[in-house]
Amino acid sequence: MILVTGGLGYIGSHTLVELLNAGYDVCVIDNLANTTIDVKDKIKKITGKDFKVYIGDILDEKLENQIFEENKIDAVIHFAGLKAVGESSVIPLEYYRNNVEGTLHLLEVMKKHDCKSIVFSSSATVYGSQEVQPLKEDAPLMDATNPYGRTKRFIEDILKDLYKSDNSWHIILLRYFNPIGAHESGLIGEKPNGIPNNLMPYITQTAIGAREYLNVFGSDYKTHDGTGVRDYIHVCDLAHGHLLALRKIEKDKERNIAKLDIYNLGTGNGYSVLDIVNTFMKVNNINVPYRIVDRRPGDIDCCYADATKAHNELGFKCEKNLADMCKDSWNFQKNIKDDGGQN
Ligand code: NAD
Ligand code: UD1
Repeated sequence: MILVTGGLGYIGSHTLVELLNAGYDVCVIDNLANTTIDVKDKIKKITGKDFKVYIGDILDEKLENQIFEENKIDAVIHFAGLKAVGESSVIPLEYYRNNVEGTLHLLEVMKKHDCKSIVFSSSATVYGSQEVQPLKEDAPLMDATNPYGRTKRFIEDILKDLYKSDNSWHIILLRYFNPIGAHESGLIGEKPNGIPNNLMPYITQTAIGAREYLNVFGSDYKTHDGTGVRDYIHVCDLAHGHLLALRKIEKDKERNIAKLDIYNLGTGNGYSVLDIVNTFMKVNNINVPYRIVDRRPGDIDCCYADATKAHNELGFKCEKNLADMCKDSWNFQKNIKDDGGQN
């Protein structure tokens, strides 16, 4: 049985689809801080499979002990966390408590129940601003520019220290680049609360008329068209990466190899803001009004992955291209709208 923390969230829900389709037994802990319980039914509808959901907090050790007592947990995929970069500067203590302290509780309970396999959701944000692109896993890490980024860095360090102290753990840190897109069914996807901070939800909301125009932050970056370049990855490809990470841990366990591994999960391609907007308009045949405004503080010119290590060691390969990402994001947005926001 695999325990998925934050399993009803954006990346967690797509990963559950991958795991259930691959025949894994799973259970979930989610406090619904950034999702709704109906996501469970959507996942059941897509996969035709059922699974147990514990509505609760990873800070609640009593509940976590109960989960480990009621289920034989072989490994944990740990998504649960707060992730809004701007908000993390406003309420940093909540971010440190939820993300860092929450992870400490989870690790304590895992250790107590002798479950020592974990896949952790880290982020390309730990690289900070780097001259050399694409980014490799061994690039020296720069200071994060916000509390959210620092929670990822701290948790990476905690997991590294844990492994140093007891190398019978199997730990995989996955550094995600920019996940976008949604499941092709249009049933699950990303539903940000309030005004979106991230590019793709802002584009889809502008296309559907909920926002007047997209603000393109900056046109004087050192990139091919002056707008910021990122490595956008389809959330289903990203989700599949978790299945591969789990299989790697299973293989290592069979061979009695304990390990801590770090992998970038990105496509290796950098696309600019205008590349995304133009592709979105073309493949969906819809207009996205936009205007160029000042740079957003803290943004960097360019960030994309060297995903060779994940390819060589996990067999990771992205199947979806930018057109798929734009089509699936739009399909999900239209479905939410058609469903009066209930979908
Ligand atoms: P999300 O907010 O959609 O999912 C997180 C889930 O965790 C939500 O369902 C939320 O209700 C739950 N949760 C939060 N705090 C919890 C707690 N204390 N106890 C139990 N459940 C809790 O976010 P996501 O985009 O799916 O991201 C998943 C993970 O990946 C996060 O750790 C995030 O920081 C990391 N990540 C995301 C991105 C991205 O762009 N989406 C990029 C890099 C890393
Ligand atoms: C941000 C976070 C990162 C987090 C990631 C996914 C920062 C500095 N980094 O990355 O930690 O892991 O989100 O949640 O916040 N853009 C516009 N107009 C918009 C929105 C974005 O032009 O309305 C541009 C940005 O300037 C950037 C690109 O689009 O060049 C991508 O932005 P975004 O989707 O917010 O992701 P990141 O900034 O890469």
